[in-house]
Amino acid sequence: MCGIVGYMGSSGVASILLSGLKCLEYRGYDSAGIAYINNGKLNVTKSAGKLENLEKLLTADRQSSLAFSGIGHTRWATHGVPNDLNAHPHLNADSSIAIVHNGIIENYAMLKEELESEGYKFNSDTDTEVIVHLLTKEYKKTNSILKAITNSVKKLVGSYALGIISSYQKDTIFAVNHHYSLTLGQGDNEFYLASDIVAVRQYTNKILRLEQSEIAEITQNQVRLYDFNGHETMREFITVDSDPYLINKDGYKHFLLKEIHEQPTILRQTIGKYMVHPNAKINFNQNNEPLTNAHTQEKSAGVHLSKNDIMGIENILIIACGTAYHAGMIGKYYLEQLCNVPVNVEIASEVRGRNLLVNEKSLVIAVSQSGETADTIAALSEAKRKGAYTLGITNRADSHLSRISSNLIITECGVEVSVAATKTYIAQVVSFLLFALYLAEERGSLTTSYINNLKLELHSLPALVETVLANETYIKEASIKYADAQDMVFIGRGINYPTALEGALKLKELSYIHASGYAAGELKHGPIAVLDSLVPVVTILMPGSVYDKTLSNAQEARARNAQMIAVACSDDEKAHKYFDTVLEVPPVDELLSPILAVIPLQLFSYFISDYLGKDVDQPRNLAKSVTVE
Ligand code: G6P
Repeated sequence: MCGIVGYMGSSGVASILLSGLKCLEYRGYDSAGIAYINNGKLNVTKSAGKLENLEKLLTADRQSSLAFSGIGHTRWATHGVPNDLNAHPHLNADSSIAIVHNGIIENYAMLKEELESEGYKFNSDTDTEVIVHLLTKEYKKTNSILKAITNSVKKLVGSYALGIISSYQKDTIFAVNHHYSLTLGQGDNEFYLASDIVAVRQYTNKILRLEQSEIAEITQNQVRLYDFNGHETMREFITVDSDPYLINKDGYKHFLLKEIHEQPTILRQTIGKYMVHPNAKINFNQNNEPLTNAHTQEKSAGVHLSKNDIMGIENILIIACGTAYHAGMIGKYYLEQLCNVPVNVEIASEVRGRNLLVNEKSLVIAVSQSGETADTIAALSEAKRKGAYTLGITNRADSHLSRISSNLIITECGVEVSVAATKTYIAQVVSFLLFALYLAEERGSLTTSYINNLKLELHSLPALVETVLANETYIKEASIKYADAQDMVFIGRGINYPTALEGALKLKELSYIHASGYAAGELKHGPIAVLDSLVPVVTILMPGSVYDKTLSNAQEARARNAQMIAVACSDDEKAHKYFDTVLEVPPVDELLSPILAVIPLQLFSYFISDYLGKDVDQPRNLAKSVTVE
């Protein structure tokens, strides 16, 4: 949430900072700004709104391209509305220190009162501004930016990352990391700084990640690292041999559409990686790779539970937020169904402040695309403290979640640029299925023939997803008919109840149409009151154990004149008879149906959003990586 960049070298700073910010825009796009030093003077240029607003200002600002050091920021507003004043960087009164900030300063109100009583004037509503005044106050006492930083961090409560630049020390930028993520990159007599390695990898493969409470003093020729007591620490830059993350739309109109279309390939890769062929046992440790790659400091995927550990697991808790939570709900279904073990699934933010009932016999699975979601990390850390086994499912091997999980499944989808998750969702769901099959094989909870049949079906799943995508033109026409709806209701039962929730979430995120997902059986317990001929009801009507009951629930909506949409199998005659619109998927085993059923729903939301002219890849108010609790 929010993105920080920095540069210290000999090239024009504006274009480098802008290019870094473009890579980080997924973390927030409420405002953006940079601070740089030119001719010994500290300048700040910032603007509310998307990065393009800042870009326009910088094009007109020749000085910024002549400067060789600077810091930049893209914001997701927490304290204070997204306007120019609240945009980062924040400057002190005499324009000698500027800072950019990620995270939340929990004791900012108290600090602000204190600083105001000492005569410091605040121009914004942010928590960030206390830091710049605190630094100024400490600089006045110590005449050293480094000492001002070490004194200030002792007073700040919360998790945060900072970029700092000052005209008192013109040849230096500073970075501060406290339970956040900041990565440095080394070029030829130049250094880069960013919240995400993606923004650094475009320039260099020599990287260094800041530790949890660390300060970096960055000049053109060297980086010096200090702990929060000001003691110097020594670490080397390491060479990352992976390719730079390539981010392009490949000819698609939006990243979202491209990412929806990548799903068959991702399924093929994920299934093929852990299940080399349908008769082989599922294996999460193919190469006996060490858990942490010493070269890249990234964690390799692996499940390191012994047979005894696996047999001893008495309960499982899944924690996640947003779309990952919906994947977790399907995960619960798989694990209970296939492994006969009780599973709870919790929204990570709801775990905080409660008595978390897990112990050494529990397995806690944290699911997070970014691996940086603060609530998920906090809940997993708590579970670890209580002695539970931990498993992380994430798309980012270099994430916080990866570092703290004892076992790890990396979904390997490549960077997901669109803020609304699609490809990482189906990769999480299929990872859960593979993990459940793995546990079932180890625990002997299913017959071999059942497992083998399911594996065969799984093997053919990517081709079935391709069939749904091939129907895109029809889905587009069918979807935009509903674009003027004010409210929509999504219903599903059993394993497709989470699909209904995810369908509603995608529509809300992308089109801003209000949508709610319900367990189909719950419709009559309240939600049915909102139905009339203006409300489309989307029913996830997949063959299997709950088909008849789901159809009955849909009939209750039909009897209230709701507009009827179904996601159903192509050969489902009842669906074609009772529903106004049928978004077809091929017949499939019930356990695999959530992976197929969500695809037309992703396209449905995409086409409505695009038709309405919404910002598909960066919907208003959202951010892809939510690093505040
Ligand atoms: C944000 C995003 C959602 C995402 C959620 C969890 O709210 O907008 O799309 O599902 O965070 O993110 P994570 O990275 O933990 O999966």
